[in-house]
Amino acid sequence: MVVFTEKDKLTPFIQNLKKEGKTIGFLPTMGALHDGHLSLAKASIAQNDYTVVSIFVNPTQFNNPEDLEKYPRTEENDIKLLTEIGVDFVYLPPVSDLYNKGEVAKVYDFDGIDKVMEGEFRPGHFDGVATVVAKLFRAVNPTKAYFGEKDFQQIRIIQEMVKQEQIDVEVVPMPIFRADNGLALSSRNMRLTSENLEAAPFIYQVLKEAVALKNKGKTPTEVIDFVKETFAQSAFELEYFTITDEEKLQPIDTFNTDVKTRGFIVAYAGDIRLIDNIQF
Ligand code: PAF
Repeated sequence: MVVFTEKDKLTPFIQNLKKEGKTIGFLPTMGALHDGHLSLAKASIAQNDYTVVSIFVNPTQFNNPEDLEKYPRTEENDIKLLTEIGVDFVYLPPVSDLYNKGEVAKVYDFDGIDKVMEGEFRPGHFDGVATVVAKLFRAVNPTKAYFGEKDFQQIRIIQEMVKQEQIDVEVVPMPIFRADNGLALSSRNMRLTSENLEAAPFIYQVLKEAVALKNKGKTPTEVIDFVKETFAQSAFELEYFTITDEEKLQPIDTFNTDVKTRGFIVAYAGDIRLIDNIQF
């Protein structure tokens, strides 16, 4: 496996492979890799001639400086894991390779998709994500790029960004990777206390019960009330639970078989913010 730290070396290298007709799969990450990332990398390896993984903790997507500082960094182990599964190239840039000094995120207009849920609770977050992913796409120029549906809203933002920036890449959404107990894998799980790690599958259990209620004919409001009441009696602090359509991510009043819908949740276990979602 070859590690690149400069886009000026990576970009022409990949361009040459593409000129030879090779396909390039790409997985952008912020490191602290877990089995969820590895399953995306394996999908890329299976579907493309070459796979690139980037490891970059993007400063412009953190609205809380403490969160940026505390973000787990495990580069040595990440590189070992990626080597073991057969990833071809890693892009591990310093901040200066992607951002000019003092550069801030580009301000996008995503027609409201960026204003709800994560956009409401983490102002500016999606401008930072879109900015860095556009830069990474231009550095790597992949054929396909893989994203986990745990961050479903992020996928919608990236699909819109790609259209606006006219970047030629196929965005491939991949199902949420869960532990056997149902907990959605996340780099943040590393920071859970053992007690919270044991309790955290509660989030997915409640999501599944919410879907069961919908299947019994309950309305979105009734399902939302159930989730709120259940969390009020738990050890977790619910930040939000909402049910929206999958396209514009706007809250729905009724379940309609013609419109794909999803329930989105954020809850705190101690000071760790956990995110999950489920299709209804
Ligand atoms: O999902 C992530 O890990 C990040 O938001 C991403 C897409 C790598 C951009 O920094």
